[in-house]
Amino acid sequence: MPMTVSPRTAVIVVAAGSGTRLAAGEPKAFVELAGRPILARALDPVFRLREPVHVIVVAPPGRLEDAARISRAAAGVADEYVTVVDGGETRQASVAAGLAAVHDSVEIVLVHDAARALTPESQFAAVEGAVSELGIGIVPGLPVADTIKRVDTTESVRDTVDREPLRAVQTPQGFPRALLERAYAAADEPLTDDAGLVSAVGGTIMIIPGHESAFKITTPWDLRRAELLAEETPTFRTGLGIDVHAFDDDRTLWLAGLHWPDEPGLAGHSDGDAVCHAITDALLSAAGLGDIGGMAGTDDPKYENAHGSVFVTEAMRRITASGCRVVNVTAQIMGRRPRFAARRAEAEAELTRLIGAPVSLAATTTDGLGFVGRGEGISVVATALLTAHNTGSHQ
Ligand code: CTP
Ligand code: MG
Repeated sequence: MPMTVSPRTAVIVVAAGSGTRLAAGEPKAFVELAGRPILARALDPVFRLREPVHVIVVAPPGRLEDAARISRAAAGVADEYVTVVDGGETRQASVAAGLAAVHDSVEIVLVHDAARALTPESQFAAVEGAVSELGIGIVPGLPVADTIKRVDTTESVRDTVDREPLRAVQTPQGFPRALLERAYAAADEPLTDDAGLVSAVGGTIMIIPGHESAFKITTPWDLRRAELLAEETPTFRTGLGIDVHAFDDDRTLWLAGLHWPDEPGLAGHSDGDAVCHAITDALLSAAGLGDIGGMAGTDDPKYENAHGSVFVTEAMRRITASGCRVVNVTAQIMGRRPRFAARRAEAEAELTRLIGAPVSLAATTTDGLGFVGRGEGISVVATALLTAHNTGSHQ
């Protein structure tokens, strides 16, 4: 079936291994993890990505149909983006089979182990983003926590290896398509990861921070650990933001992401959009990422007259990178002007688009009381609710 949008990125999910060490009586990708196959769990974050990708699933020998059924179910209505191919004897041969099926339009290829079933969506987005930006190979990795000893053939300890410069690498590993194809065309000896093959042809590889949840399910203990993590209820986090701006008759009004050409504007270094600023603080505080001042710097020339949407978008980028997702956002405007009700729906739609989650807005006057009642300025209070799913390390 042709894909509605020609994707720029492909994700090859290798699932062709037999799972010898897990020893669950069938290929590891089909073993259930908290009620769903490991392969389905591994595909979930791929389908949470904002932009469509070509998803290539590499199936265990003789099990193409089973892999296709699970993959189609995980894809739901987006199953036109899924291709399933037969795997090979080794992981390397399986990746090569996946690579041969990549759609013409694809420029970036991510290779992912189905066995890393709890890898967060943010890790896929971060790898893809870094490949796109830098045009080199990108590998997620974590500092090595254990002390590492070098031994000789008799297991006698020779010395302790400095672990400072070591990283334990995960997947997805991402590459410019042409570079990965060149590496696979030249591959002569088996290596344990794709970045190794790319290095062998002189490609540059950079490590970005990996995630504790992206561990590989190898043994029964790993599977049990993954089960308990998958069943964990999401952690909810609320945030609060307040912003106040005085009216400035020399400017026109920007509020809630909209231009109000006939209304007096708000004072400020930026465009004074108190709704966007309060929402930005609510989002950042919910994620534990500080506040708008720390993010933007109130005097930074870069933000002179900056639209409120700039701050909201930057906050969203940081929140997504931290593994959080927004559930909803609300804001209450206190002010005598503008008459908000007439454009409420328009403002809600604009902010909902920016944040990717429902935003509801309300407005009130304060019965003539205080600076707001005297018409000196506008005050906004915003709340945000976020969830941090299976992010283990998220505080
Ligand atoms: N893989 C593959 N084709 C192979 C071997 C491995 O696609 N011939 C995939 C696995 O399905 C897995 C990933 O490579 O998603 C990492 O491999 P590993 O964890 O070693 O899985 P298995 O090979 O299945 O497990 P084992 O080594 O215990 O048999
Ligand atoms: Mg293996």
